[in-house]
Parts: sequence; C-alpha cells; structure tokens
Amino acid sequence: MNTGSLVTGGGEQQPCRSPVGGATVVGMTRVLVAFASKMGSTKEIAEAIGDRLTERGCAAEVRSAETVDSVDGYDAIVLGSAVYATRWRREAIQFLRRHRDRLTAGRTWLFESGWLGQRPSALVASPGGRRRANKVGAPAPVVFGGRLDLDLATGRMDRMLAKRMAGDARDWDEIKSWADQVADTLVTRRT
Ligand SMILES: Cc1cc2nc3c(=O)[nH]c(=O)nc-3n(C[C@H](O)[C@H](O)[C@H](O)COP(=O)(O)O)c2cc1C
Repeated sequence: MNTGSLVTGGGEQQPCRSPVGGATVVGMTRVLVAFASKMGSTKEIAEAIGDRLTERGCAAEVRSAETVDSVDGYDAIVLGSAVYATRWRREAIQFLRRHRDRLTAGRTWLFESGWLGQRPSALVASPGGRRRANKVGAPAPVVFGGRLDLDLATGRMDRMLAKRMAGDARDWDEIKSWADQVADTLVTRRT
C-alpha cells in the first residue's frame, strides 16, 4: 500500500491520507470519481483526476455514474458531468438523487465539462449544477473545457455542432491542479 509521500516537481507533497486517525496514517483515502459522459471527453477528465489522486496517494476509483449502486466505503466523492444544452447528463443527476443522503459537505466535489472554442472570460457552472451543489453542500462545480470530435458524434444535433465547433478545450494542467486541490483538502481535513 502506498502511504509514502510523493515527490514531484522538486518539492515534497503531502500524500492524500485517510481522513481518520489523526496524525497517524491508518489507510489511504478512498475516493470515487464518478462521471457522466456521452462522447468520452468527460470520462477522460475523470480518469485524469483519478490518476492524479492516485499519484497523490489516494485510492481513487473512476466509474461511470450509472454503474454506482452505493457510495458506502468511499471517504470522498468527485462527480463530473458533460453539459448538453445547458444541462447535466441524466446519469449525473440521477447519481446525486440516488446518493444525496450519503454525500457529505466537505467531502463532495463536482465538475462540469463543456465550453469549446475561445475560453469564456467568466467560467460559471450551469444553473442546475450550482443548484445541485448547494443541495449537497458542495462548492459550485468547477468548469472545464470540453471536446467535440466529428468522428465521435453520432446524433444529428451533435454532428451539426461538431461540424461548426470541433475542437478540444481541455486543459490538462488545470484539471491536474484542481485534483491537487481536492487531494490537499483531504489532507488538511484530517482530524
Ligand atoms: C448538441 C450539443 C450541445 C451542447 N451544449 C453545451 C452547453 O449547453 N454548454 C456547454 O458548456 N457545452 C455544450 N456542449 C459541449 C459539450 O459539453 C462538450 O462537447 C463535452 O466535452 C462533451 O462531453 P462528453 O464527450 O463527455 O459527452 C454541447 C455539445 C453538443 C454536441
């Protein structure tokens, strides 16, 4: 089991340790990274977050939101949804409905992925995303850029938009850095 600290970029970082056990490390923090993705780009963001949390010493599991029957056994939850027509994917909405009672403030993080083209000057989460964050006591969802690829688009609307707006606006450094913030919070929230 990896409970050692991780050295990256020349500096020693705190590992993502269990939130229980005080100063004594009793086990790795188990984090579920659930995602709702139609054309795969949000899934890849979730995987990048999972990889980073793992590098930081968490036991991160990345799963499609609709396959998660129970969140018992996880110390923290990250949920991400692609945004279509300003709305979250249904699987993400249902995930929150299903597990709302088990999600705790300070241990739940949300992200959305969507915008394409030029980076908007203000990145504001969708109204539904903000409302749902509020309901589970999580911070407003962080907003990442998305990807649209004509080869992966099957529906008529998706293909129409992909013909006009294909591109990849995901910023992997930004995504990694957000995952670091989650890991940092898990370290500092140790009691
Ligand atoms: C038909 C359609 C509607 C979309 N609507 C939005 C939207 O309202 N807001 C947004 O930020 N992105 C929107 N997008 C961009 C997608 O969210 C983006 O391509 C995302 O990365 C797709 O994620 P996925 O590959 O995980 O399904 C839309 C894309 C399509 C094809």
